[in-house]
Amino acid sequence: MDIVIKNIECLVTCKGSYRKKGQEMMDAKIKGDAYVVIENDKIKALGEGDGYKKYITCDSTIIDGHFKTVTPGLIDPHTHVVYAGSRENELPLKLNKAGYIEILNSGGGILSTVNDTRTIKIKQLVEESGKRLNIMLKHGTTTVESKSGYGLNLQTEVKILEVNKILNETHPIDVVSTFMGAHAVPKEYKMDREGYIEEIINNMIPYICENKLAEFIDCFCEKGVFSVDECRRILMAGEKLGLKIKIHADEVETINGAELAGELKAISAEHLVAITDEGIASLAQNDVVAVLLPSTSFYLMLNNFANARKMIEQGVTVALATDCNPGTSPTESLQTVMTFACFGMKMFPEEIINAMTINAACAIGREKEIGSIEIGKKADIVIFDSRNLNYLIYHFGANAVEVVIKSGKIVVQN
Ligand code: NIG
Ligand code: FE
Repeated sequence: MDIVIKNIECLVTCKGSYRKKGQEMMDAKIKGDAYVVIENDKIKALGEGDGYKKYITCDSTIIDGHFKTVTPGLIDPHTHVVYAGSRENELPLKLNKAGYIEILNSGGGILSTVNDTRTIKIKQLVEESGKRLNIMLKHGTTTVESKSGYGLNLQTEVKILEVNKILNETHPIDVVSTFMGAHAVPKEYKMDREGYIEEIINNMIPYICENKLAEFIDCFCEKGVFSVDECRRILMAGEKLGLKIKIHADEVETINGAELAGELKAISAEHLVAITDEGIASLAQNDVVAVLLPSTSFYLMLNNFANARKMIEQGVTVALATDCNPGTSPTESLQTVMTFACFGMKMFPEEIINAMTINAACAIGREKEIGSIEIGKKADIVIFDSRNLNYLIYHFGANAVEVVIKSGKIVVQN
C-alpha cells in the first residue's frame, strides 16, 4: 500500500543517520510545502511542491498536510514500561519530604513494584504493559527501549524480558530489550549484596545471553544502590557475553557514573542530573550518548534538571526519554517530556526533536533504520496538528497527534 502525505506545512526530517552534536542539534532539516511518499514499510520519496503527483496511483491513500507538522516517529530510548501495580501511595510520603533513596531503603519504591511484578501472571503483565504502549503510540512514539529490573531474580527478570519479546512481536511499537538486574538489591539479599551481584554475573547474564533475551545491559549506578566498582564488574560481565552497555548514572548524587560510562565506552549514559564537568568531558571524548529524563527530575522534586545546555555546548550527543516507570516518571508521553526539556532544561524545539528522533535512535543503535525521514528508512511518521515546530512545544498539556504511521501502516488516526 502507498501513502502520500502532500502539502505539508512543516516537514521535520531530522536528516542524517548519525549522532547530532553541538550546533547541529539546532538544525532539524525542516522543509515547507513538502511531501512524503511511503511504499510498503519504507519511505520512497520526499520533496517539495507538487512533485508528489507522479507517485499517486489508484490505491494510494492521500493525506493532506496543510497546517500540519510531520516528524519522524518519536523514539523513547529509556523506559521501565514493563511492571505491575502502581505507587500513588508514595505521593504523600514525597510531599512529607521523604527522599527517593530513603523510600527505597525502607522496602518501598522499586522493591514494592518488584513484589507486584513477581506475583503477576505473564499474560496479565503483557496486558498491563501493552496498555501503556497503546498510550505511547497515541502520543506519537513508534519505538521504545524497555528495561527489566522489577524482577531481581532470574525467573522474574526473564518473565519481563519475555514480555518485551511478546510485545515487540504483537504490538505495533518496536520494543528494544535491556537487562537491568542491577536495579536494586532485592530484600532476600539485603544482608548479602555480593551474593546478588554474583547471581547477576554467574546466572542471570549467561542465561539471558544464551536465550537472546536482551541487547543491552544497564545498572543503577547510584549512592545507596550500586557503586561504580560494582557496576563496572556487572557491565563488563554483560559486555563479555555480547550485551551493549547503558548506565543509569549520577541521577540523584554525584558518584562519577558518567566517567564510568566514558571509561567503558558505553553506548549511553542516562539521567545525569548530578554529572560533573569531568563527566561531561568524558561523555564527549568517548562519544557516549547522554539520555536525559527531565520528567523524572520534575517528578522527584529535585529542583534541578540535567545541564543539557552545557552538554550540548561541550559536544555531547543529547537524547531525551520518558523513563516511563511507576515511581519517578509515571508518564508515557514524550510530548510531556518536550515541555520539561524546553521549560526546565532550556532546550530549543529543534534540539528537542533531534533528541527524540535521530539521537534517540543512536542511543539504541538503530540510526540506520529509524529516526529520520529519508528515502529507504522505515516509514515511522507522526502528523501533528500543529502549524510549525515551535507551536508543537509552545502549546502544552494536550495530545497534538493526529496520525501515526508505523512501518508504513496508519495505526493511529485521531
Ligand atoms: O530511572 N533510577 C532507577 N530506576 C527508575 C525508577 C524506578 C522506580 O522508582 O520504580 C528511574 O528513575
Ligand atoms: Fe530509569
